[in-house]
Amino acid sequence: MILAAQLSDTHFDLSARNTERVEAVMGYLADLPHRPDVILVTGDITDSGTPEQYAQARQALLGGGSSDIPVYLLPGNHDDRANFRTGLLGEPAATTPVNSVYRVGALTVIMLDSSIPGEPAGLLGEDTFDWLRATLAEAGDGPVLIALHHPPKRVHSPVVDVIALTDPSRLAAVVAGDPRIVGILTGHAHAAIATTFAGKPMITCPSTASVLGGEWELTLPHRVMDYAPDPAIALHIIDENFGLTTYFRTVAMGGWLSEPPPA
Ligand SMILES: [Fe+2]
Ligand SMILES: [Fe+2]
Repeated sequence: MILAAQLSDTHFDLSARNTERVEAVMGYLADLPHRPDVILVTGDITDSGTPEQYAQARQALLGGGSSDIPVYLLPGNHDDRANFRTGLLGEPAATTPVNSVYRVGALTVIMLDSSIPGEPAGLLGEDTFDWLRATLAEAGDGPVLIALHHPPKRVHSPVVDVIALTDPSRLAAVVAGDPRIVGILTGHAHAAIATTFAGKPMITCPSTASVLGGEWELTLPHRVMDYAPDPAIALHIIDENFGLTTYFRTVAMGGWLSEPPPA
């Protein structure tokens, strides 16, 4: 079996709060008796894509005590492709999609860039689909996980559904026709959500920073984001039968916050 931890929407914003939350999660993963084989971070790594925010993210995600666990990242709508590349990947600045593929044992992890520079909604461009088809053609017979920031399906969130993935049917055609694909992992919704997409599990990882409720819960524009809950992550088990099982886990902050709650 392969154990893949997923963090999402860390929203590094130079505050101590969001950093402490990620440090708590990374510490939790590093202290597990059976450490994850890989850590996936599915976008909105930073809050506004500045080099300083990426430096903070790099230290917390790539420079901590669990740094011997590989950490793979993809951008979300709050990220900046060029600064993402220079600040997190150590690559030259470029604004082309940040797509990547990794082998984790028998598992192939495909990380897709669904961001549109300057836009909150998502799209997988022509170049990304070309890359995806070529990557799947070389992926071998083992299980494949696909990760992207924007959910390709309505999740009944009045905030997220209007900035979801545009034209998801193109991705659905690829996913439905490939028996190796065990599931789709997303972020963006700041909530733990399980559904299906193109006949496969679609799992949306909660945010470490905040929680967005569904349409039954929010009162726009003032009651939107809940900052009180502890940071939460997903833990995915991929078994030898191409099965995907997901646990969601909160990591207690123990009441120690960087700022006192408002009076
Ligand atoms: Fe986010
Ligand atoms: Fe997002």
